[in-house]
Amino acid sequence: MKKVEEEVKAPQKEEEVEEQLEEEEELEEGEELEEEVEEPIPKEVVQRRKYLKRYKDKDLFETVEEVFDMATQMAVYELIRRGVIGELKGVISAGKEARVYCGKSPQGDDIAVKIYLTTTAEFRKSIRKYIIGDPRFEQIANRGLRHLIYAWARKEFRNLKRLEQAGVRVPSPIAVYRNVLVMEFIGENCKRAPLLVELAKPVNQLDVEEWKKIFETVYDYMVKMYQKARLVHADLNEYNIMYWKGEPVIIDVSQAVPINHPYAHDFLMHDIQQIRRFFSSVGVEVPSAAEMYARITGLE
Ligand SMILES: Nc1ncnc2c1ncn2[C@@H]1O[C@H](COP(=O)(O)OP(=O)(O)O)[C@@H](O)[C@H]1O
Ligand SMILES: [Mg+2]
Repeated sequence: MKKVEEEVKAPQKEEEVEEQLEEEEELEEGEELEEEVEEPIPKEVVQRRKYLKRYKDKDLFETVEEVFDMATQMAVYELIRRGVIGELKGVISAGKEARVYCGKSPQGDDIAVKIYLTTTAEFRKSIRKYIIGDPRFEQIANRGLRHLIYAWARKEFRNLKRLEQAGVRVPSPIAVYRNVLVMEFIGENCKRAPLLVELAKPVNQLDVEEWKKIFETVYDYMVKMYQKARLVHADLNEYNIMYWKGEPVIIDVSQAVPINHPYAHDFLMHDIQQIRRFFSSVGVEVPSAAEMYARITGLE
C-alpha cells in the first residue's frame, strides 16, 4: 500500500479539529500511523490535493458528512490523503455499531470500509464483556468512549491480521485509523458476496454436498483460529460467514478474544452450538459439541 507522508492544507476549521484530535491521539501497534515529514511536496501529492478538492464536492462525501461527526469525516479524509481510500461508494450495511461501505483504492480495486459509530452509548455496554479480561484492551476501557471505539477498530484490524497469518480466510486487513477500518472487499464491483444465511433462506441454494464442504472448511478454520491465532471468534454464525468463489470467508472479528480470556470457553461453546445448529439445519451431519470442542482446543 502506497502511503503519502505529506500534510494536505485543509480549511481552517478542519485543521483545528485535526489538531485537537492529534492531542488526544494515542498511538498503538497496529494503527500504522505514518510520521509526517517536512519535505518538498512531491508531484503526486499536489495531484492528490487537487483530486481531494474535487472529491469533496462529490455526493457521497456529502452522505458521509450527514451520517458521521467531524472527527470521523477527518479520519476518512486522512485515509484518502494517505492513499488508502481513493473513493467511497455505496453503503453495504448500516448496523447499530458500524456502517460498511464499498470503496475504491486509488489503484481502482474494491475495498470495504467499516466505520464504527462513535455516538452510540449502548455500544460501550455491549462491548464491555469482550474488553474486560483481554489484557490488550483493559486499560483503555477506563478512558473515554471515543478511545474505546478506536481500540475496538484496532482490535478488529489486529484480529484480522492474526487470523490471516494463521491461514483462516478473512478479508485481508489494509489499514486502520481511529474508527475507520479498511479491508479487502469480499465480492466484486461493489456487489458483496452472499452470507451463508442468504444461501440457506428463504430458499436453500446449495446442495448438501456443498454444505458439507463448507462445514469442513469452517470447522478447520475454527481449529486454526484457536490453535494458531489463539483466538475465539465469539460471534460465529451464518450471518458472519460470507461465501465467495466457492469458499467461506469469516468476517466481523472485532469481538474475537484471546483464548486466555476469562469467557473464552463460554464463547467457544456458544460458537460451536451456533455452527452445529446452522449446519444441521441445511442437512449436514455435524459432530457432537464435545467432539468439536476437543478437536478445536486440541484436547482430543
Ligand atoms: N470485507 C467485506 N466485504 C464485503 N462486505 C462486507 C465486508 N465486511 C462486512 N461486509 C458486509 O457488511 C455487513 C456487516 O459487517 P460486519 O463486519 O458483520 O459488521 P456488524 O458488526 O454490523 O455485523 C456484513 O454482513 C456484510 O454483508
Ligand atoms: Mg456481523
